[in-house]
Amino acid sequence: METRPDDRIAAELAALRRVAALVAGGAPPEEVFAAVAAEAGLLLGADLTTVARYDPGGVVMILGAWSSAGGAKLDSGGTRTSLGGRNLSALVFRTGRAVRIDDYGQATGVAADLGRELGFRMGVGVPITVDGRLWGVMSVGSMTEAPLPADTETRLAGFTELAGTAIANAQARVELRGYAEEQAALRRVATLVARGAPPEQVFATVTAEIGRVFAVDYAGMSRYDAGGTVTTVGRWDRTGTPWPIVAGGRFALGGRNVTTLVFQAGQPARIDDYAGSSGVISDAARSKGYRSAVGAPILVDGRLWGVITVGSAGEEALPADTEVRLAAFTELAGTAIANAEAQAALAASRARIVTAADAARRRIERDLHDGAQQRLVTLALRLREAQASAPPEAGELVRRLDQVAAGLEAALEELREIARGIHPAVLAEGGLRPALAALARRCPVRVELGVQLAARLPAPVEIAAYYVVSEALTNTAKHASATAAEVDVAAGQGELRVRVRDDGRGGADFGHGSGLLGLKDRVEALGGRISLHSPTGAGTTLDVHIPLDGSAARS
Ligand SMILES: Nc1ncnc2c1ncn2[C@@H]1O[C@H](COP(=O)(O)OP(=O)(O)OP(=O)(O)O)[C@@H](O)[C@H]1O
Ligand SMILES: [Mg+2]
Repeated sequence: METRPDDRIAAELAALRRVAALVAGGAPPEEVFAAVAAEAGLLLGADLTTVARYDPGGVVMILGAWSSAGGAKLDSGGTRTSLGGRNLSALVFRTGRAVRIDDYGQATGVAADLGRELGFRMGVGVPITVDGRLWGVMSVGSMTEAPLPADTETRLAGFTELAGTAIANAQARVELRGYAEEQAALRRVATLVARGAPPEQVFATVTAEIGRVFAVDYAGMSRYDAGGTVTTVGRWDRTGTPWPIVAGGRFALGGRNVTTLVFQAGQPARIDDYAGSSGVISDAARSKGYRSAVGAPILVDGRLWGVITVGSAGEEALPADTEVRLAAFTELAGTAIANAEAQAALAASRARIVTAADAARRRIERDLHDGAQQRLVTLALRLREAQASAPPEAGELVRRLDQVAAGLEAALEELREIARGIHPAVLAEGGLRPALAALARRCPVRVELGVQLAARLPAPVEIAAYYVVSEALTNTAKHASATAAEVDVAAGQGELRVRVRDDGRGGADFGHGSGLLGLKDRVEALGGRISLHSPTGAGTTLDVHIPLDGSAARS
């Protein structure tokens, strides 16, 4: 169709206006690229158009495509091909000028294959220049043997030159979006770390976020062990297929691979071609088709703890800024690990303090039992003997001896009571049921006791439960002005639950004494939880959960 130059210019300007309006309206970059491709195709009456960007490492990213027949679909984020061979993108890249290929059947290279797949029979490509730099290539093609008009190069170049600003703006938005995605990923990880999430969860999240944000094929996290091995602690794979080195698996360091290089240098490392690498890790990487990888060290309190690696199956090397961008993630991972280690150390030290205090109390109880108590028992017996052997005429003396003996027995009972409070011997002998029954019996407030236990529990758990009930009932008697209390103890689903409730005045608080705080220490040292519900005037409920495996206390 012949058009007059004026009409052409008007059409060109209208096309540009539509693209500019899209950009100004904040349309997503892929929409802008698609529009640029479509407008160019319509303007030139072509069958096919593509907009592609030259990326580092010989990559050509096709960002927009249009076909007069419709259906020129691209992957989101672009379709990746590479330079090399004789095809439009390679020739434009090499010459920096408009090029024409009349017989696409003879074109070579990956891009040519892709072009033929899209339907190119012949084509013209012109450079896209942004800020004076070769940014990409705009191509138009014909799906038939009919040659493209002779002025195609000039007209395409003219349109492309004017569309350059729109392309540059859309590109800026791509970069901005990438940056925003990375910031959002870092924020998600940082939130987890700040919340004190378990390290395993942080590891899984870090690797998955890195995998997505860096658009790699693999992301992994490993811990260096003593003795030249390394353990995988987190792993993400684009395809979701199992990685030969399973998470939690341990394997030997050595050979030429980024995991070993980071270990040796304590610094980021990269391998751009896994073909020449060696070691167990490299074998696994090659078996997955990975060609390049970057690793960055995870430092915890200044010491080398592990490594985060990313791998790509692409032909090109990973971008040059990968190491720097990884650092923000390794730092967060390091903080999470340091936090978890501090947490574990704290729990262990609390457990040690509680254990040491328990041992001291047991010793004091034994000393009282074997020492003062025994001597008082013996004295009381002797006194009763003396009393029995006194002559009948010594009536006043017998009466006074009787008083002393009774006083001695009362003192002995008091001492027993104190010893029981210091360390409940009945607990070790009979377990929680009789020990709690004794506590309930001695409490001045009426106590309803429910115990659901099938067997004896680990000693630290029994002792903790005993002290919880003992302190809670003592508090009820001392502070609550309650008429009744309820104690429920039950084991199940790997934990012991203890609940003590009274109907008193409420207002209990961890901050006001040492009793409740001591319970908190004891329970949390065992990896348990304790919570207090005590609104003024509405009674007090103390809830405690203690894991039965006692794992926290062992560390
Ligand atoms: N069951 C309860 N009813 C009402 N107030 C309570 C109850 N339990 C605790 N409190 C309040 O909470 C405070 C803290 O209790 P906590 O057991 O820690 O300390 P304490 O009993 O005062 O002293 P300690 O236990 O060290 O001998 C108490 O001082 C009391 O004011
Ligand atoms: Mg108390």
